[in-house]
Amino acid sequence: MLFLRLASCLAFFISLRLINCLPNGAPISTCSTLQPVHSNIPPEASQSLFRIEPQAKIVGQGQILRIEIPSSIPQLSFKGFIIHARTPNGRVVGRFASSADGLVKLIDCSGVQNTATHANTSPKVDFGLDWQAPSDYLGDIIFNSTVAQDYDKFWVGETSEIVKIVERDQVIPSGISTTRRPIEVTTPNFVRSTSGLKNNDDFIYDGCGDTKTCFGSPDNCVATKSCQTFSAVIVKGDRYIIEMRSTKSAAYVALGLSDDEKMGKDSVVECVNESGSVKAYTSWTIVSNGKFDAPRTGIPQNSIRLIEGRLENGMIYCQVERQPVTIINGIKFDLTKQNYFLLLASGSGIRPASVDYHDIVRLSSREALKLSEVTNVEGRSTLLLRLHGAFMITAWIGTASIGILLARYFKQTWVGSSLCGKDIWFAWHRICMILTWALTLAAFVIIFVEIKGWSSVDNPHAILGTITTVICFFQPIGAFFRPHPGSKKRPLFNWTHWLGGNLAHILAIVTIFFAVKLGKAELPEWMDFILVAYVVFHVIVHFIYSISGCVSEGKGTRVTSFPMTDISQSRSQMIASAKQDAVVR
Ligand SMILES: *[C@@H]1O[C@H](CO)[C@@H](O)[C@H](O)[C@H]1NC(C)=O
Ligand SMILES: *[C@@H]1O[C@H](CO)[C@@H](O)[C@H](O)[C@H]1NC(C)=O
Repeated sequence: MLFLRLASCLAFFISLRLINCLPNGAPISTCSTLQPVHSNIPPEASQSLFRIEPQAKIVGQGQILRIEIPSSIPQLSFKGFIIHARTPNGRVVGRFASSADGLVKLIDCSGVQNTATHANTSPKVDFGLDWQAPSDYLGDIIFNSTVAQDYDKFWVGETSEIVKIVERDQVIPSGISTTRRPIEVTTPNFVRSTSGLKNNDDFIYDGCGDTKTCFGSPDNCVATKSCQTFSAVIVKGDRYIIEMRSTKSAAYVALGLSDDEKMGKDSVVECVNESGSVKAYTSWTIVSNGKFDAPRTGIPQNSIRLIEGRLENGMIYCQVERQPVTIINGIKFDLTKQNYFLLLASGSGIRPASVDYHDIVRLSSREALKLSEVTNVEGRSTLLLRLHGAFMITAWIGTASIGILLARYFKQTWVGSSLCGKDIWFAWHRICMILTWALTLAAFVIIFVEIKGWSSVDNPHAILGTITTVICFFQPIGAFFRPHPGSKKRPLFNWTHWLGGNLAHILAIVTIFFAVKLGKAELPEWMDFILVAYVVFHVIVHFIYSISGCVSEGKGTRVTSFPMTDISQSRSQMIASAKQDAVVR
């Protein structure tokens, strides 16, 4: 078996050697048919597993153009090939450069060195050739080829997309092309093969950090090949191709380019499942009144082109080519020169002319990167942000509320037992408030570490939060130095302590409301309803306790060991409980 294989390789090798050994002017038959010589094995009828990819669509006379021959199956190699460029009349033009690695042989098809073939049958992966455009021809050309995966498996007549040869001074050197050059929206005259990819979900990770810049969520998922939402930027010459995929029944997946890690004034490419077929759009993010939107209206859609889009096993997959330089709403996006943060998003809903809330994934890259260079991208960790939120909510919706309720309604009724020599209500009040204090200060420090300074966002959250934290900071210090119950200054302390605590609590709740409006917090709008529900609940609890307090006082059943004469002589029933203070030894 092995022998047969070797023999067949050898035969192929010899057959192509035959061409190579032919003197100037290979037989016209080979040049026009591109068939391996003397082969009576028919070519494959299926779509070729290899593509012919010139790295630019426009090239100046006499300039060098790189042609790559990638496979649709990663790491699949081929052994032999013949390739040349033809004009629409079938004339073979241009000239190939001989390669230093000795893999390429040049032959003549009514011209000099205008056709390239393999020099040996070693397996070729990531293979490319340099071709020099003719100086005596202007207009379209197409590369036509035969690629042989093996002696008995080859595809004849596989062509590239059209390449335009223009006068040299009309060409913008590769890599700094501008919007003057629109990407042709005509579909190529051949269909790319997608067979072989279908049962292999992992193909998308091949080449990450090597030939493409990959970015996915959750963190570290590229390394473990387990991304829920994945994106990659592939640069081929001056072509920028964005590849995206999202699992979990996403209706869309989108990649934005941003000059900061936040939404707003970003250029987005999105692939959308529109009733079962994949469409690509470009959109523009705006933030107004804390609300995000990414409309497509007014954004020129011709700066992108969908190369490939599929819906498979609940996944949306697409490849979109994006112009290297675009000007959107007066802002220039130059992928070749500028650094951008990547914003990756996916979600389950779409609206008529935009995508809906990013309910599946929303991640920005840790740093801005130059897309023309392949790198490994990490997502920005939201751990500190989450801790800040969790601590503040625990402190102010949890412990502070309980502590205030205890101090207000239980100081007369919960004195019987004692903890460490204090009335039990006081012991618990103190525990709750120490927790509130510690959590608040921790969350305060955390957010400054995360943001590295003062928030630049136009939202009162930061200023209100700071005031709350300052009041909160002094509350226990004041309590520690409180005057003895008998002293004259005691009422003053009671009042300040009560006022400070309640003010901080109210401010904290308002601050949390403003957090919902902060883009960075990534809180959904319905958080508002939860907060409103909490406030209503809190008010009702106060109300019930106040009523029951009045009622029990009226009946004279209240267990009041210490009438609160130390606060004020003129006791108002309604706020009595607020002013009262049990004796704390
Ligand atoms: C490519 O070459 C094959 C074989 O000569 C030919 O049949 C086919 O028409 C060519 N394709 C183009 C677009 O020139
Ligand atoms: C795409 O949308 C269609 C209809 O809108 C739906 O039936 C289909 O399941 C969706 N596919 C994926 C992969 O989300």
